[in-house]
Amino acid sequence: MQAYEIAGPTRLFGEVTIHGAKNSALPILAATVLCRGRCFLRNIPEIEDVHTACLILQYLNAEVRRQGNALYIDTTYLKNRPIDGTLAGKMRASILFLGALMGRFGEASIALPGGCPLGKRPVDLHLCALERLGAQIEVQEDRLVLTCPFFCAAEIRLPIPSVGATENILLAAGCVEHETVIVGAAREPEICDLAEFLQKTGAVIRGVGTDRISIIGCRRPAGTIHTVIPDRIETATYLCAAAGCGGELTLYQTDAKLITPVIDSLEHAGCRIESEAEYIKICASGGLSMPPDVVTMPYPGFPTDAQPVLMAALLRAEGACRFRETIFEHRFCHAEQMKRLGGNLTQNADEVLLRGTDKLIGNSVNAQDLRGGAALVIACLQAEGKSLLTGVKHVDRGYDNLEKNLSALGAIIKKVEISP
Ligand code: EPZ
Repeated sequence: MQAYEIAGPTRLFGEVTIHGAKNSALPILAATVLCRGRCFLRNIPEIEDVHTACLILQYLNAEVRRQGNALYIDTTYLKNRPIDGTLAGKMRASILFLGALMGRFGEASIALPGGCPLGKRPVDLHLCALERLGAQIEVQEDRLVLTCPFFCAAEIRLPIPSVGATENILLAAGCVEHETVIVGAAREPEICDLAEFLQKTGAVIRGVGTDRISIIGCRRPAGTIHTVIPDRIETATYLCAAAGCGGELTLYQTDAKLITPVIDSLEHAGCRIESEAEYIKICASGGLSMPPDVVTMPYPGFPTDAQPVLMAALLRAEGACRFRETIFEHRFCHAEQMKRLGGNLTQNADEVLLRGTDKLIGNSVNAQDLRGGAALVIACLQAEGKSLLTGVKHVDRGYDNLEKNLSALGAIIKKVEISP
């Protein structure tokens, strides 16, 4: 089993080029299923979840070739095959192939998705929405079997702005020449990026970035070229690493507008942040003080994926800060682990009260999900002495070269093999 060996405390200085967004690349990779042709996708991160999506595409007889940070994908001769749990069970985004295969073939069979254990994470909204579009879905043990004899366009109301359900509706409707409307749609930048890709293939989409999106698909979407947006959560992760450790970082190929709630919190905490079109610079010289309480919300509110890494950045800040998690019912596993490093955190239902401590002490800690794992890296970098972080496989799902980038910034971190 792999683990990170980290020695701290450390300060971080230097530059990082931000990769393409995992949560944009994954739905767009699923969307290539709709195209009868070749796509060239730029700014695709080299991470486990993208590798899994490519394996699914190759299993479906697509040609997939990586060329640096781009992927060449040809889905001309795609075959509709049942996708089993060995692939689908590795990540949450595999559920998006349900809508994409429904869009292209009118049927699909896929094992239930895996992904970070952040709570129940049901797929009821996805299934209800696809049924509104004409799908008949059977849940057989751990598998979803979908047939759609004929597609009926519909107005679909989402009770919560589910990112994945919004994406699945757009994918299922991508090949149908009637208007489908989503009311209560998610507004995340990754939804806008998927919509831009689908528009390039021939779909007509209105209301992108609002909570009411309409799509008129096209019968034979063409292949296209697309550059994926920067990863706003990777951006938040490096900003929080600099804030927590102290130092000065410049992040390139990213956009501060994608992550303003996190930047606001860090500026309130005492960081100096400046940004231009394609870069963000953060200076964190002295000690931090706690910002106003943090409540996670759907976009454009504070992103749930940045909650763990901001918590890590504030472990040694002056004062107290309350974190309330409103998106997932089980997203504080990292808090328990941060206490093992000397963090002062008290959890009560959907809230964690964080009180700053003077120092953290190295210890062994365990990552149980992707963003919690990244947060624990940030916490260990601040701790005095050596730490061992297990569960690195979670971090590898979503971060491209994290330890290499952090080492270049002055961190003492290396991946080691340990016996399970
Ligand atoms: C996407 O997950 C992201 N994953 C998550 O990022 C992100 O945290 C989340 O959106 C919220 O922004 C990808 O894009 C691959 P949701 P998703 O559907 O689509 C409930 C990361 O670290 N819900 O918006 O699964 C659900 O349980 C990951 O990169 C239902 O009840 O999120 C949750 O409480 C973690 N029924 C809430 O809605 C459903 O059918 C929001 O989930 C679907 C969701």
